[in-house]
Amino acid sequence: MIRKITLSALAALAIAAGGGAHAAGGAGHVEDYDFSFEGPFGIYDQMQLQRGLQVYTEICSACHGLQYVPFRTLGDSGGPDLPDDQVRAYAEFYEVFDAEIDDFRVALPTDHFPESGLENAPDLSLMAKKRAGFHGPYGLGISQLFRGMGGAEYITSLLVGYTGEEKEEAGAVLYENEAFSGGYLSMGPPLWGDDVEYEDGTEATIEQQAQDVSAFLMWTAEPKMNARKEAGFIAVLFLTILSVLLYLTNKRIWAPLKKGKGTSPAE
Ligand code: HEC
Repeated sequence: MIRKITLSALAALAIAAGGGAHAAGGAGHVEDYDFSFEGPFGIYDQMQLQRGLQVYTEICSACHGLQYVPFRTLGDSGGPDLPDDQVRAYAEFYEVFDAEIDDFRVALPTDHFPESGLENAPDLSLMAKKRAGFHGPYGLGISQLFRGMGGAEYITSLLVGYTGEEKEEAGAVLYENEAFSGGYLSMGPPLWGDDVEYEDGTEATIEQQAQDVSAFLMWTAEPKMNARKEAGFIAVLFLTILSVLLYLTNKRIWAPLKKGKGTSPAE
C-alpha cells in the first residue's frame, strides 16, 4: 500500500515537474537576494517600501500601471504607511477619468493607480506573484519555499540582468537579459544608477533601486502579508497550547485505568 502511494506521489511530482519546466520555457537566472519579508516572521520594511514607491513613481510609472492598487492603501500600516496628507498629495499627482462628469479630474485617495501608459508594458500590480511560481528546480516553487525566493528576486534579477547586448527583430529592438526566460525582452534597461535621489540618504545604486522597487511590487501583489504572518503565528501558538491541554486531559481521563494495570477495562 505504502509503495503504491509513494509511486503515485512520484508520478504526480514528475508530471508537475514536466509542466513547470514547460511553463518556464528556458528560465533565466534568478539571484537569491535577501528581503526583510522572507521567512515565517519576515515583514515589510516600511522605509524600503517608500523608496520603492519613489522608484516606481519616477521611473517605472512612465510605462507601467498599477491598476489594482488604490492610492489609499499607501497609508496602510504594514505597507508604506504614509501619513494621510501625503497619501492625498500623492494621489493629486494623477488624473483619472470620471464617467460621472465625463471628464478627467484630479485623483482622490479612493481612486486607483492608472493602467499602463505603454500598451505592451504589463501592469505591475500582481507581477511579483505572477512570476513567483516559476522558480526553483522544474518550476516547483521549491526555492521559494526553502530560500524565500520568489517574484521579488525575479524582478530584481531582471532589473540588474541586462548584458548590454541588443538585437533588432521585426523592426523592434530587443535587449538581452540574463533573468528573462527566452533571453531577450522589449524593455530597455530602466535603471542606470542614481536615477532617483533618496530622501533617507540611501545610495541609489542600480541594485539598491532594483531591490527597493521589487519590495514595493511584492507589497502591491500581497499587501496583507504582515497581517497574514501575524495571524499564522497566533494560530500556531494557539494550536500548540491546545495540543498540550488535550494531552493533559487525555492523561487525566485514562489515569484511573492506567493505575489498575493488568486488569482489562472490561472488568
Ligand atoms: C520605457 C518603458 C518602460 C519603463 C520605463 C519600464 N518598463 Fe518594464 N516593461 C516595459 C515593456 C515594454 C515590457 C514588456 C517586455 C516584454 O515582454 O518583452 C516590460 C516588462 C516588465 C516586466 C515583466 C517581465 C516579464 O517577466 O514578463 C517587469 C517585471 C518590469 N517590466 C518591471 C519594470 C520596473 C520595475 C520598472 C522601473 C524600474 C520598469 N519596468 C520600467 C517597458 C518599460
